Amino acid sequence: MQTTCKHVAIIMDGNGRWAKNQNKLRTFGHLSGSENVRNIALAANKLKIQVLTLYAFSTENWKRPMEEVEYLMILPEVFFNRFIDELMREGIKIMAIGDLTRFPPNTQRVLLSAIEKTKNNQGLILNFAMNYGGRDEIIRAVNKIADDVRLGKVDSIDESGFESYLMTAGLPAVDLMIRTSGEQRISNFLLWQLAYAELVFTDVSWPDFKEADLIEAMQVFENRNRRFGGL
Ligand code: FPP
Repeated sequence: MQTTCKHVAIIMDGNGRWAKNQNKLRTFGHLSGSENVRNIALAANKLKIQVLTLYAFSTENWKRPMEEVEYLMILPEVFFNRFIDELMREGIKIMAIGDLTRFPPNTQRVLLSAIEKTKNNQGLILNFAMNYGGRDEIIRAVNKIADDVRLGKVDSIDESGFESYLMTAGLPAVDLMIRTSGEQRISNFLLWQLAYAELVFTDVSWPDFKEADLIEAMQVFENRNRRFGGL
C-alpha cells in the first residue's frame, strides 16, 4: 500500500480486558500486547511508515496496583531480549520519549542499550512513550524555554521554536492516531502533536490488532480530506 502517512501514533488499549475475557491475569494481556508491538512494528516498517509512536506507559499509570506496574517495568527487558536481533535485522531504530529516570535501573539500561544498538538504522523509528504525559512534556518544554530566556539564548518563540523543545523534536508531525479497544479519548498522549492528526478509534483490543487493522486505519486516513484549517 502506498501511503502519505509518515507518523502513526497508537494508544495500545485493552490488554487488561482482553486477558480478563479469557479468565487470565491482566499481566498476560500486557505480555501478549508486547508481542503485538513486534508484529505491528514489522508491519509498519513494511508499509514504509517513518515513525510509529506507541503509548507504552503513561505518567498516570503509576496509579495502578504495584504488581502490575512492576510487571510493566520488566516487559521492556522481556521484549528486547526476544526481539532486538530481529528489529536490528529489519533496520528498525528504537527511540523513547518520556522521563525514563523514574524506571528501575535495569529497565533504563535495557532501553538505552536498544536505542544505542539501533541508532544508525534507517528503517522505521519505533518510538516508545514511557512514563510519558503530554502535559508533563509541555511543562518541561516551558521550563527549558524559561532557562534559555534567563541565559539570554531566546527572547521570543514561534510554533516551530516551541516544537524544538518537545521530546518529539525532529520527528515528522503525527498524521494518524489510533486508539484500540473502544475508548474515544486522547488520555494525555501527544497533546501538542495531535493538533491536526486524523483520529481513528477501533473496538479491536490491542493484542488482537493485526496488520490488516493497521492497513484499514491507514485507508481511513487516506480517504479523509485534511484541510489543516483551510478550505
Ligand atoms: C492499556 O491497556 C495498556 C497499557 C497501560 C500498557 C501498554 C503496554 C504494552 C502493550 C506493552 C509495551 C511493550 C513494551 C515492549 C514496552 P489496559 O491495561 O489499560 O487495558 P484495559 O483498559 O483493558 O484495562
